[in-house]
Amino acid sequence: MRRIGDRDVSCIGLGCMPMSAERMVGERDRAIATIHRALDLGITLLDTANVYAPSWDAVGHNERLVAEALRTYTGPAALADVLVTTKGGITRGAGETWGRDSRPVPLRAACEASLVALGVDCIELYQHHRHDPALSYADQVRAMRDLREAGLIRMIGLSNANLDELGVALDELGGPDDGGVVSVQNEYSPRYRADADVLDRCTELGIAYLPWSPLGGAEQAHDIGSRYADFAEVGVEAGVSPQEVVLAWLLATSAVIIPIPGASRPQTVDSIVHAVEVRLDAAQFGRLAATAPEATSMYPDDLPRSPLR
Ligand SMILES: NC(=O)c1ccc[n+]([C@@H]2O[C@H](COP(=O)([O-])OP(=O)(O)OC[C@H]3O[C@@H](n4cnc5c(N)ncnc54)[C@H](OP(=O)(O)O)[C@@H]3O)[C@@H](O)[C@H]2O)c1
Repeated sequence: MRRIGDRDVSCIGLGCMPMSAERMVGERDRAIATIHRALDLGITLLDTANVYAPSWDAVGHNERLVAEALRTYTGPAALADVLVTTKGGITRGAGETWGRDSRPVPLRAACEASLVALGVDCIELYQHHRHDPALSYADQVRAMRDLREAGLIRMIGLSNANLDELGVALDELGGPDDGGVVSVQNEYSPRYRADADVLDRCTELGIAYLPWSPLGGAEQAHDIGSRYADFAEVGVEAGVSPQEVVLAWLLATSAVIIPIPGASRPQTVDSIVHAVEVRLDAAQFGRLAATAPEATSMYPDDLPRSPLR
């Protein structure tokens, strides 16, 4: 188990985004079975977002899928222990135009739509998805605080925040001990580790750090062993898959890390949960930590590197 704010959650969560990929249209039963498998195996953190959808006119698709999976679950897990996290602040419009909008009124509208899609009265953890370059970051953080004060959300997280942005949010809201920022969800993987400074600050303050695309995303996840030989070699030594080594390495990197690997099939969830059992010795950990990352993010044009305003 690991902690987000005042909630204990499983040390690995499930990233639900791949279940709303275009290729999954017509595979709803498989998607629901994947979430049910995660619940059966003790995963109590499900990550979604309003914009995870096969097309722009289906925004809320992934949130509705998560809600349906929870509604139809009949297994042994206690659903009261499950934390569903969603996000707002990215927009998706006609013709697949993507944008950002964290002005108070549109952000509130997005949050209200997420409440409906998830079928809840209050979102336990709402994450600010990405910096809106039209606004100061402080204004965006204040818009999140307004949502909390209105009772629409209970805890506030950030996503794609750099160290300056995290600093602004901490100045405005405080950290987890003050009921402020409880989590940061940034890209972090063998491929991309540019936000190590954000991770260090989160570790220092006890802010949960949720690495997104921990396996490099759906396109690269299956051949991560051929891209990063050290992870494959340690996998051979430990008798586990390279993907399981990646997840074990992330868990060993910091006590605040809670990876959220994506999955679209129940068997993948079995492997994700198996990774929790993998123990790396100091030499193996050192080798993995020394692996050179690549220079670019998965979304190189979408970095939160705009000058802080
Ligand atoms: N905040 C943000 O801006 C942001 C951006 C991107 C993603 N995210 C979040 O982060 C989550 C994870 O990112 P992601 O889904 O893009 O990428 P990812 O977790 O790096 O890769 C997902 C793919 O990895 C495969 N996989 C997962 N565990 C595996 C294992 N143990 N063995 C073999 N294959 C495995 C899955 O395969 P199958 O599909 O075959 O099961 C899935 O397609 C998303 O679901 C989303 O919740 C957030």
